[in-house]
Amino acid sequence: MQSAAIALRSKGGRIGFVPTMGYLHEGHMSLIEAAREKAGKVVVSIFVNPIQFGPNEDYERYPHDFDKDRSACEKADVDCVFYPAGDEMYPRNFSTFINEETYSKRLCGISRPNHFRGVLTVVGKLFNIVRPDFAVFGQKDAQQVAVIRKMVDDLHFPVEIIVVPTVREEDGLAMSSRNHYLSRHQREDAAVISQALFRAKEMVGSGIVNTDRVEAEVSNILQTKRRVRVIYVSIVDLRTMEARREIVPGESLLAVAAWVDEIRLIDNILL
Ligand code: PAF
Repeated sequence: MQSAAIALRSKGGRIGFVPTMGYLHEGHMSLIEAAREKAGKVVVSIFVNPIQFGPNEDYERYPHDFDKDRSACEKADVDCVFYPAGDEMYPRNFSTFINEETYSKRLCGISRPNHFRGVLTVVGKLFNIVRPDFAVFGQKDAQQVAVIRKMVDDLHFPVEIIVVPTVREEDGLAMSSRNHYLSRHQREDAAVISQALFRAKEMVGSGIVNTDRVEAEVSNILQTKRRVRVIYVSIVDLRTMEARREIVPGESLLAVAAWVDEIRLIDNILL
């Protein structure tokens, strides 16, 4: 891949990179489109990264369909799909990890203690393998974006980070490969997450800046659905993921994680 990247670059322009775990949906396609608009060459990686999953999480059953993903990439005019095997990325003697110690410990970092260490390690490796000029990530994974930006700053990766808005289903549910796990009833209940986020945005639009008030309203709305259990509802600084007492327009993010039965979903909205 490193040689291929050098060859791609010599053929013209910047390399735009979209790292994914596959099972591509419209959200991923919007990242690819954004890369296509700004880059001469686009590389997509497809790798379900084992080290970002906790022991009781869904690594074993994470959905995959490489042939479908490859044809979606072909249609989207992707120049190169990088699809490494697990033992190429993590040979048996692999022992170096990237750990961010502040932003990654908040929100999802509380219930998924090694998740961002796994994400940063694989993203760092992928940046060194693909050598992109810029990489594109989705706003849906706002904490992942914050933690990757921090790694890029702290470790001087010469990669620009571009963030693309969340793509939603018609009922507002943020697109995610994990939506595939939801039954029809779970799916109906899951729609409450985006409804609660939109309600919060309305409250802020009407002039409310007290984070407790907005968080309480969001929690109440989420609790109206039998299958939904809140993991966190938190208004944080968009850049650091630190909890805020007051909403600062354009700088505050409302982040939510919730179980819908046994399926863990996250979503967020900029306030
Ligand atoms: O967002 C994802 O799909 C993954 O966390 C990433 C960035 C591809 C790393 O495995």
